[in-house]
Amino acid sequence: MHVGNCAGCHTAQGGRPFAGGRPLETPFGTVFATNITPDPETGIGRWSRKAFVRALREGVALNGDLLYPAFPYDHFTRASDSDIDALYAFLMTRPAVQARAPTNRLKEPFGFRPLVAGWNLLFLRKGPLVDDPGQSADWNRGRALAEGLAHCGGCHTPRNELGAERSDHAYDGAWTEGWYAPPLNAASPAVRPWTAEDLFAYLGTGLSATHTAAAGPMASVTRGLAQASEDDVRALAVYFASLMAHAPAAQGPPPADRGNVADAAHPEAAALFAGACATCHGPGAPMMQEGRPSLAWGTALHEGTPNDTIQVIMHGLAPPAGRSGPTMPAYGDSFSDRQLAQITAYLRARFTDKPPWPDVPGAVARVRKGGSE
Ligand code: HEC
Ligand code: HEC
Ligand code: HEC
Repeated sequence: MHVGNCAGCHTAQGGRPFAGGRPLETPFGTVFATNITPDPETGIGRWSRKAFVRALREGVALNGDLLYPAFPYDHFTRASDSDIDALYAFLMTRPAVQARAPTNRLKEPFGFRPLVAGWNLLFLRKGPLVDDPGQSADWNRGRALAEGLAHCGGCHTPRNELGAERSDHAYDGAWTEGWYAPPLNAASPAVRPWTAEDLFAYLGTGLSATHTAAAGPMASVTRGLAQASEDDVRALAVYFASLMAHAPAAQGPPPADRGNVADAAHPEAAALFAGACATCHGPGAPMMQEGRPSLAWGTALHEGTPNDTIQVIMHGLAPPAGRSGPTMPAYGDSFSDRQLAQITAYLRARFTDKPPWPDVPGAVARVRKGGSE
């Protein structure tokens, strides 16, 4: 039920759960998620089960209007009947909230909903997936969830110019809301193999003892999964572990801490790190002794872009779903752009064996403005 993270899109910042109003940027313009509480006037209180199934499977609203694919019905169409029934029962028993989403701000000519029919013809493949008999039950369940309700490709698969996911590049990594969602297949840049156990911990709690913590848009996904059934989270973990099983990036020896080399090359950033970061990330820091992974194990530092590293430093980390857990302060206000760029370049030099990122100051400026590459 929580696998679909309906609340993630259908709750405005500071708003009531499922009452809508959150803006989503698309190639067509800004689309607002609607109210899906059971309020009869402004929500889905008058929707029959049949109408609800039609919306999720075909992207059609109660009055027959075509819905915009910012609503991931191209994934939800893959969900099983019983999953959709459970969702309907769940949503219809939430508190009804009276709230109308703002009017969509779409570019010409996309304000005309019938145009979506062409998109559907090209990109919508309706109906649940057929199980692969050569794979385990967990794997098949995991794939059905990933392709369906969990819509993992919604952020991790690059899109074409019409905003449709490129199925020939499934899980190849993509930009979303100013973050880079890394590849979840053999192109994964993770330097430590993602086992099903590691993924189970990361997806279900937002935290892993082996890689890193979910910080950006993925944190909202893991907050949803924290409320999902353990079996579903395990199935997703099994499926994605199989997709990443042979990723070349994870086959090498563990990256070493190259503190001496990095300190000599980036003296100012080294001092900044010693003052602001080493209490948590330095060798022997209490947090490290409690078993938190070295910065060298996080994927962001090994990616082709410094984007997510800058995001984490600027915005810090909130504790994972429903727990008091490790947190990191946000440095966006206290560090200048120059300091942010310096420390980002320093982390890359110290904790990876990869070449320096080009134009880190440019990336800092872009992240400040909330933009993607
Ligand atoms: C990625 C963001 C996103 C997610 C996740 C999402 N939705 Fe939506 N949903 C939207 C947007 C945007 C619209 C409005 C589309 C439009 O205006 O055409 C919408 C519309 C709908 C509608 C049509 C409502 C109406 O009044 O016409 C229903 C029903 C719905 N969503 C249900 C769900 C359910 C159930 C889930 C979880 C399984 C879910 N959505 C997850 C973005 C999302
Ligand atoms: C709303 C967009 C979004 C959705 C939906 C989403 N992800 Fe993510 N994911 C991200 C972003 C962005 C990151 C980068 C780190 C972050 O946000 O903390 C990420 C990071 C990850 C990572 C860490 C990879 C690494 O090597 O560090 C894994 C694993 C992952 N996602 C799996 C999934 C799975 C499985 C699903 C479906 C259940 C999913 N994601 C759905 C945006 C998303
Ligand atoms: C109070 C403790 C604390 C301080 C101080 C702190 N961090 Fe963190 N940081 C964390 C925690 C906790 C995580 C999540 C990693 C984990 O344990 O899973 C994290 C994660 C990160 C990550 C993400 C790793 C990845 O690959 O996704 C980066 C980058 C990072 N910190 C950089 C810094 C920098 C730079 C500083 C100093 C300017 C700093 N941190 C200061 C606690 C801290």
